[in-house]
Formats: sequence, C-alpha cells, structure tokens
Amino acid sequence: MSVSLCILLISIAGASAGTLPPYISPCSASDSNVDQCIEKVIQAGGPQFADGIPELGIAPLDPLHLGTVVVNNPSLKLVFTDTVVTGLRGFRLNAYKINPSKGKATIDFTANVTLKAQYEIDGQVIILPIRGSGPAKIKITNLNIIIKYDFDTKDGHWLVTSYKDNYSMDRAHFKLNNLFNGNKALAETTHRFTNENWEIIMQEIAPPAVKSIIKNCVDVVNTFFQAIPARELLRP
Ligand SMILES: *[C@@H]1O[C@H](CO)[C@@H](O)[C@H](O)[C@H]1NC(C)=O
Ligand SMILES: *[C@@H]1O[C@H](CO)[C@@H](O)[C@H](O)[C@H]1NC(C)=O
Repeated sequence: MSVSLCILLISIAGASAGTLPPYISPCSASDSNVDQCIEKVIQAGGPQFADGIPELGIAPLDPLHLGTVVVNNPSLKLVFTDTVVTGLRGFRLNAYKINPSKGKATIDFTANVTLKAQYEIDGQVIILPIRGSGPAKIKITNLNIIIKYDFDTKDGHWLVTSYKDNYSMDRAHFKLNNLFNGNKALAETTHRFTNENWEIIMQEIAPPAVKSIIKNCVDVVNTFFQAIPARELLRP
C-alpha cells in the first residue's frame, strides 16, 4: 500500500472517529461562563448539526422522520403515517445550563415546525363528528421545548440516562385534505371549527407527536455523545 493511500485512510478514519465537525468548537469546563459558551456553540452549530453528520452516523433532525404517530382517545381516533417534521433547523436557543459534576443539564429552545403526514381520523372533536383520510399539514408556531436531562460518563463518553420534558406552543394551524371524503361544505365547517379550537385538538395530538420529536432529539444527541469523547465536547 502506498504511503499516500495509507495517510488518506488514516485521515478518513480520523474524521469518522471522535473528531468534532468544524462548526462545533468545544468550551472549557473551567470557564466561569460555561453555560453561555455552550449556548453560543449550540446556536451557531445547531443548524448544521440538524442536517445530520453522516460520517458519525448521526441522522438529520430536519427533516425528522417520525413514522407513525397514533392518537388513541375514546372519542377520537387519529393516525398519522409517514410523518415528517421540518423546521427544527431554524430553532432559537433560549437557554442552556449544565452541571458537569452532577451530570445534569437543561436545554430550552423554540422552533416553528411543520408536520406533514397521511392522516386517518374518525371520531368527535368536542361535539362535532370528524372523519376522513388524506394528506395533512400542521403548522406549529413557537413550539417551546424544555428538556432536563441526566447524563453519566461511561468509557469517556457522555450518555443521557434519563430526561424530563416540557413543551408549549403559541398556535397550531391544521390543514386536513379530503375530510369527509371531499364533501366540501362539511369539510369547510369542520376545518374552521378545528382551527378555532386548535388548543383542544393539540391536547390530543401534541403528547404523542411532540414526545416523539423530543425522543428523537435525545436519541440523536446520544449517538453524537457515542461518537465524540466527552473531553472533546467539554475540555477539562
Ligand atoms: C416563528 O414565526 C413567528 C411568526 O411567523 C415569528 O414571530 C417567530 O419569531 C418565529 N419563531 C422562531 C423561533 O423562529
Ligand atoms: C413545565 O411547565 C409547567 C408550566 O409552565 C411548569 O409548572 C413546570 O414546572 C414545568 N416542568 C419542568 C420539568 O420544567
């Protein structure tokens, strides 16, 4: 094997094992403003991180494929399939806090996200019957997500061991194509009604959908932690 090929292979291996992408510059644990330092890093590098890092096996967060999301309420059955969420890339970081010695951190961010899926709905919203299937689009304005997580260091790598989450939103707007098999009059009334009562409907949809978004974020972060040693993420 030629020397240059050898060097090439070593540098490829180096790029895929434990090297931070250039848009993420590590902070130092001894920095008295470590939270603000990490906030800057997350806000600056987050959008590119959301595109995924194939060399490190890190899947994109935008678009985020959620697969099937099921709302199973006695009065409302709603299934989304091929669910895709976009918009996380444009997040705004509100706050980040870390306590490395206790292994605790909190991230608080806001994003405008759009969920697209094939829907199937059957049941009742408040008093109004609703039924149909087809393409759906839900726009969520200012989805605020707060994740408080515990992490351990194992073999030099961080690992999120548990988390608690909280979320809220300013507004949601639904577009459900082909409600009532395309019965226009019925569909329009129901549409208006669902959008006027978006909060009640989102109380059903948000738990499975937003929980799934949060779980995917945590999974992606854990994959990232697996790929990069903790001391490269936060210099001792
Ligand atoms: C979301 O969109 C609204 C209005 O379109 C805008 O005011 C707000 O700043 C956006 N939020 C984020 C996190 O970009
Ligand atoms: C979640 O939000 C609610 C309402 O704002 C708040 O009372 C609660 O303390 C929050 N929980 C966490 C874990 O942040």
